[in-house]
Amino acid sequence: MSRSATFDKSIVLTGFMGSGKSSVAALLAEMTGSPFVDLDEVVVKEAGKTIHRIFKEDGEAAFRDWESLCLEKALTSKRTVVIATGGGAVISAYNREIMKNFGVVINLMVSLPQVLKRLQGAQDRPLFSDQNPEEGARRLMMQREPFYAEADIRIDTDGKSVEDVAAEIMSVLTELPE
Ligand code: S3P
Repeated sequence: MSRSATFDKSIVLTGFMGSGKSSVAALLAEMTGSPFVDLDEVVVKEAGKTIHRIFKEDGEAAFRDWESLCLEKALTSKRTVVIATGGGAVISAYNREIMKNFGVVINLMVSLPQVLKRLQGAQDRPLFSDQNPEEGARRLMMQREPFYAEADIRIDTDGKSVEDVAAEIMSVLTELPE
């Protein structure tokens, strides 16, 4: 497979909770030989507490600060990486700018019914444990859609396996002009 200049940049996956960012990024990392970074995991490590605790004890704004800090660190490190961002990382204009500057931004699109199916019973997502998860998720998805739409590439994930999505991304990346 020919390698285009695209692979000189990091690969940044964005998308709503449950869109499969972490699984797809882990596979893409294997396929490209780049390190895999799960932004949520880095935040937990750096903050020394779970996302749930950060939200509960310090508030969402503190979580967003950790998220930006860790994203910047990962993207400006010497090596290119494949990074799965958290669903809300795109809210920040600064995050969107560094994602674009240091990476090829790929948005994994997912439908609301698919999100609800995939996140059923999820305990580890503070923004998904509302009284009415369907309404909450719909609202967040609508608010974030313009930000997700800024990605360089958008891939529909509904009804596709992790392998299908990763293969589709690889084929789009290798076809991008140098
Ligand atoms: C969030 C998504 C989560 C995590 C945090 C906030 C969001 O990541 O960063 O709970 O704002 O959508 P995933 O998209 O990996 O679930």
